[in-house]
Amino acid sequence: MERLFATEKLGGRSLYRFQAVTVFAGICLVLCYRATHVPKAGAGRAAWLGMLAAELWFGFYWVITQSVRWCPIRRRTFKDRLAARYGERLPCVDIFVCTADPQSEPPSLVMATVLSLMAYNYPPGKLNVYLSDDGGSILTFYALWETSAFAKHWLPFCKRYNIEPRSPAAYFAESDNPRNSRSLEEWSIVKGLYEEMTERIDSTVRSASVPEEIRANHKGFSEWNAGITSKDHQPIVQVLMDGKDRDEVDNEGDALPTLVYVAREKRPQYHHNFKAGAMNALIRVSSAISNSPIILNVDCDMYSNNSDAIRDALCFFLDEEMGHKIAFVQHPQNYTNIAKNNMYGNSFNVLNLVELRGFDGVGGPLYIGTGCFHRREILCGRRFTNDYKEVWDRGMKEKRELSIYQTEEKAKSLTTCTYEHNTQWGNEIGVKYGFPVEDVITGLAIHCRGWKSVCNNPPRAAFMGVGPTTLAQTILQHKRWSEEAPPLFPEVMSPWIMPFIYVAIAKNVYSAYEALFYGETLRGWWNGQRMWMVRRTTSYLYGTIDTVTKLLGLSEMGFAVSTKVSDEDESKRYEQGVMEFGASPEYVIIATVALLNLACLVGGLCKILTSGEASSGFFLQVVLCGLPVIINVPVYEAMFIRKDGGSMPFSVTLVSIGFVMLTLSVPLF
Ligand SMILES: *[C@@H]1O[C@H](CO)[C@@H](O)[C@H](O)[C@H]1NC(C)=O
Repeated sequence: MERLFATEKLGGRSLYRFQAVTVFAGICLVLCYRATHVPKAGAGRAAWLGMLAAELWFGFYWVITQSVRWCPIRRRTFKDRLAARYGERLPCVDIFVCTADPQSEPPSLVMATVLSLMAYNYPPGKLNVYLSDDGGSILTFYALWETSAFAKHWLPFCKRYNIEPRSPAAYFAESDNPRNSRSLEEWSIVKGLYEEMTERIDSTVRSASVPEEIRANHKGFSEWNAGITSKDHQPIVQVLMDGKDRDEVDNEGDALPTLVYVAREKRPQYHHNFKAGAMNALIRVSSAISNSPIILNVDCDMYSNNSDAIRDALCFFLDEEMGHKIAFVQHPQNYTNIAKNNMYGNSFNVLNLVELRGFDGVGGPLYIGTGCFHRREILCGRRFTNDYKEVWDRGMKEKRELSIYQTEEKAKSLTTCTYEHNTQWGNEIGVKYGFPVEDVITGLAIHCRGWKSVCNNPPRAAFMGVGPTTLAQTILQHKRWSEEAPPLFPEVMSPWIMPFIYVAIAKNVYSAYEALFYGETLRGWWNGQRMWMVRRTTSYLYGTIDTVTKLLGLSEMGFAVSTKVSDEDESKRYEQGVMEFGASPEYVIIATVALLNLACLVGGLCKILTSGEASSGFFLQVVLCGLPVIINVPVYEAMFIRKDGGSMPFSVTLVSIGFVMLTLSVPLF
């Protein structure tokens, strides 16, 4: 039997391997130096221990991260073979979209995502789209109701002209006129309808209420009575389009996908477990309505850029040889509005093209919470066994036994606050609770149960996201996903200096080369390095503190939604490549670290100048301080030079100066 997908080793790894082997030797030599040069007891000893710990950690981290890159692979799918073998006899698919707040995630943007997913090149009767609204907002429900009407124009239009991408926002933004002149008239009509709908949704969101005459159009609006707030409401499940209903067709008489609005019950006294809780509620709601064997989940700001993506994923699941071992197919994250030079280090080129593929070579990528196809049974806790046979026609029953009203009521009962009490949900079943990176932990648990995963990165990206445009949003996002003493270093003239220099240079030169190779600019790589440092010192520190306090039971996990809108000034500065700062504690950390580096550099230089003799051991330390100082130049600018709205607030500067004084006044050694 011919395979449905092929696996290829990525070529050109010899340069990488040479680099890796030599850096490894360098690290060993550095540790050798450390072990053979123990200072006599006293002040030096503590610093020596600190350096040793740091170097061991760096070495360990390096070995772990490099092993992932040792043998990256690439997957290729054969959709023609899938079509020849199965025709349209394909399994049903449930698609989950999670949104949380109509203010930071504009409903019109979410709806473009929903439309792109409904328009997949796939039998519509087998597609079921679920929107989870954790804001429980009538505005989002209204937007989805508008969308269900517009879809009847949009889906036949997409299919007739085979247009790409199928997010109307992205499509109309990038094509000024249709490629096919015969469709010009239709193109203008659909574009007009889309713009009118977006305008209605946006103005309703601005006014924050849905007019009475619109509320009369659908029974679902009556769920929002006077007492409802986003944190305190009954479960709401509304089937806006029923793909199983033969009378529900688009403007051309073709079948439509199922479209469901879900807001799980929220009560102030019950913890809701954030996005993981929403995902688990969706798993149960969908089991009552469509119960498809395949689940795709995407974030609300991530539209489908490739209408064949479902067929692509099925090439893995339905492959005769490997398919029964594969639990999920993860797609990389791509962002549309990456600013010039990757200012905030958000371009995932290197991550996508090297690291995810690298993971794929050693058992499979992690689950990163979006752009991922899962098998329902496995997400619900099934262990791997060799004789396991998936029931692919699950959810395919032509007629439901219950009426749509009864189905909705049943689904509601599955999303109450107390439903999960005394069950394994959030633990053995579904997405795990209690971690800031619940997706990654869930993926690892699936691997621990014996399954594999694959990374699929088709030439035309399957999903595109709208990237975060301010630094605050970047830190927030990474938060979720999340040196100096007496001559410690060898003298410049000693041969021991070589491994230190080699490790530092080889590692950085190689990573710059890698970035250039994958289509970033040198500036972009440099900015990436700065964000790397900013992330280490802020997001990850926060993340660590968060997790530790959580483990000690000191605090309930706080979870923040990163906003996807930013004001106009912000966007302008973003386009010009100017960093954005504001008043929040993480900037105090950034500013303090930057100032501390500056102080040490100035101090070191003064010492060299006053003592007259340049003790050569100092050389390395000056370089070590100098690099972060250069990297941090935009931070100093924001503190002392810039005057625009995105500069560092004076209060932040003041507090961090205070911290620096405090640190310097403590006699460390
Ligand atoms: C997204 O799709 C369009 C075609 O619709 C394509 O031109 C573009 O290259 C795709 N983006 C990526 C990153 O693959």
